[in-house]
This record gives sequence, structure tokens and C-alpha cells, in this order.
Amino acid sequence: MISAIVAAVHVLALAIGLPSVFLRGRALAGPLDAERLRRLFAADNVWGIAAALWIVTGLLRAFGGLEKGAPFYLSSRLFWTKLGLFGLVFALEIWPMVTFIRWRRQLRNGHAPDTSRAAVLHRLNHLELVLVVVIVFVASLMARGFGQR
Ligand code: HEM
Repeated sequence: MISAIVAAVHVLALAIGLPSVFLRGRALAGPLDAERLRRLFAADNVWGIAAALWIVTGLLRAFGGLEKGAPFYLSSRLFWTKLGLFGLVFALEIWPMVTFIRWRRQLRNGHAPDTSRAAVLHRLNHLELVLVVVIVFVASLMARGFGQR
């Protein structure tokens, strides 16, 4: 039962993660007025929750004995590929994460945020979205034993 619930939450993280990173990109694509900034921060919050859910449920599934057992995943090239891709998403996310925290703070202090790098952030966001889609395919192949040493 726990395994099924954790697996469901892992996949539901995708159901909120992919739309939120897409909507964050949409907000970044246009002129960042108050309404777009509000939408950007809302999407960014949900994206953060999805990331936390992926990490917690992913670790439980891989190492918590809920699925095929740690040896299966540790000997799966696709598991390491998946973690590598996820690590890349995480690394790419550091600058946007810090920037959006700064923008929130600037707004709270009554200052207009410096959005001059929005175009670069938009491209980074797009790359993260593509990587998540790739991770889904890698995960599906991994779960079926492809890439086993
Ligand atoms: C962007 C992040 C992630 C996405 C989109 C994602 C997606 C998925 C999907 C769609 C599945 C189901 C595969 C299937 O049964 O066909 C899955 C399974 C799994 N994921 Fe993730 N995942 C992510 C992050 C992680 C992380 C960070 C870990 C580990 C630390 C992880 C570990 C697992 C494990 C162990 C399974 C079970 C595979 C099996 O059934 O044997 N995932 N993931």
C-alpha cells in the first residue's frame, strides 16, 4: 500500500511539475508586469514543491525498499542517467531560484525587480522543461529493466 501511494505521489509530482515549469516559462516570455510576476511566482512555488516531492518519493522508491530494491537501481545505467539529468535540472535551477527569491524580496521592499535577464531565464526554463520530459522516458525504460548491467 505504501509503495503504491509513494509511486502515485512520484507520478503526481510530474502532473504538477511539468505544467508549472511550462507556465513559469510562459510568464517569463512576456513583459513582466505585476500580473505576470504574480503568475511567475505562483508557478515557481508549485515547481519547487514538485522538485521536493520527486526527491523524497524518488529516494524512498529507490532506497526505501518500496520497489525493486536498491541493488536494481544502483546497477541500472538508466537510474544513474536519470539522477544525472535530475542533477542537471537542479544545477540549472540554482540561478533562476536565487533570482526569483531576490525579485520577491525587491517587490516586498517596494522596489521594481531588475528583470533585464528575463530572456536568458526563459531559455534556461525551456531547457529544464525539455530535460524533465527526457527524464520521464528514461524513468519508464529504467523501470522496465533497460540499462541493467
Ligand atoms: C524530474 C524528476 C523525476 C521525474 C520526472 C520522474 C519520473 C518518474 C516516472 C514517470 C516513473 C515511473 C516509471 C514507470 O513505472 O514507467 C518514475 C519511477 C521511479 N523514479 Fe522517478 N522521476 C524523477 C525523479 C526521481 C528521482 C530524483 C529519483 C531518485 C532519487 C527517482 C526514482 C524513481 C524510482 C526508484 C522509480 C521506480 C521505478 C520502478 O518502477 O522500478 N525519480 N520516475
